[in-house]
Amino acid sequence: MKFAATLAFALLSYLTKGNPLQAAATKPGVVAAAYFATNQPDGNFVVSSQIGSDGKLTGVKAAFSADGVGSIITGVPAAPDPLLSQGSITVSGNKLYVINAGSNSIAAVDIDTTDPTKLRRIGRAVNSGGEFPISVAVSEKRGLVCALNGGRVNGVSCFKPSDLKGLVSVPNTQSLLNLNQTTPPNFALGNGFGQVLFNEAENQLLATVQRVNGTQRGFLAVWDINPLTGALSKKFRELNVAGASLPFGMTILLGKNAALAEGAMNCWALHSQKTDHVFLIDFGTSLINEVAVDRNLGSSIVSQLALAKDSFLSDSQIATVHGNEYLYVLTLGKNLVTVLSLNGPGKVTVVQQFPLGDAVRKLGISEDPNQVQGLGVFVTGA
Ligand SMILES: *[C@@H]1O[C@H](CO)[C@@H](O)[C@H](O)[C@H]1NC(C)=O
Ligand SMILES: *[C@@H]1O[C@H](CO)[C@@H](O)[C@H](O)[C@H]1NC(C)=O
Repeated sequence: MKFAATLAFALLSYLTKGNPLQAAATKPGVVAAAYFATNQPDGNFVVSSQIGSDGKLTGVKAAFSADGVGSIITGVPAAPDPLLSQGSITVSGNKLYVINAGSNSIAAVDIDTTDPTKLRRIGRAVNSGGEFPISVAVSEKRGLVCALNGGRVNGVSCFKPSDLKGLVSVPNTQSLLNLNQTTPPNFALGNGFGQVLFNEAENQLLATVQRVNGTQRGFLAVWDINPLTGALSKKFRELNVAGASLPFGMTILLGKNAALAEGAMNCWALHSQKTDHVFLIDFGTSLINEVAVDRNLGSSIVSQLALAKDSFLSDSQIATVHGNEYLYVLTLGKNLVTVLSLNGPGKVTVVQQFPLGDAVRKLGISEDPNQVQGLGVFVTGA
């Protein structure tokens, strides 16, 4: 499989915000934690795992109800990556936001900054402003949390964080795309969405659209944000993503005035600040591609690391733990998390493969690798 054929991507003249992971000053203790959601139809739980000072996962610690149920996109054989999205869990500051695809809701969760394996949901999950939410983006600057709904009622909708209620809907932020989707979406009939993200200035909201009413037609939907009210422009602009017929995950190219939208069917895109390279995590080929993007937004492959066939790589995050950068990748074909160290450009190496199944079931909740979605990391600075 040729890189150009499978990983066509486009560079957009938009600044978008980098890795949302942020270190917080705190007492010594747990160094960091990773989170994913079980997304089960009988209850969606956020599972926390401890991360040691060497960046490796040291154990699954606890499960916290997201106050809703999971769901999956239909019309495809059962397989990992059930929401076909990036950003179903988003960590920003010491808050975690998680969608409940089967309850049309989104929950706000407080992360204990001394022991980030401890979570506390703030208030109840709130209606996501549509059906089948799949992705959530946070702008600290605007005080906005925006969800992308991919079901029958589809589009974006935004909220303000509230210490009491978790999330409170913001007027004039629901913008529907009116695509001909079902709830749950049916892939065979043309599932349409990938991810929602803010640009770097945080004055625009972006969402990847892969198909329009069953027809493959990728574009980026762009809304302007009113700086005073947080309201979204009534209409969105369609930005064509040249070379990316199926834009899916997005990432930020800091200082390059650009965002990168990954154009393969099922890929996650992350920017590494240490290497200044973009990592493209490919579901279908089990490849981790390290890509350099130059000033003129030309790109070249720096390294390619192949994991075991049928690893079904999905949600991923990059985090800096004790000065070293690590890439965490859900590897649900094998029901584990792969941890890679990014020791500088072209030096990506696997340092751990951490098994999930039994460890999660010991917490007394059901776990199915074909349901799991979302990955967040919080680093304490301890
Ligand atoms: C998609 O389908 C919906 C509902 O049938 C329709 O309202 C909308 O105009 C269609 N959009 C396009 C671009 O065809
Ligand atoms: C909407 O989708 C249904 C199938 O779910 C299909 O029968 C119908 O033709 C579609 N309408 C449009 C406008 O694409």
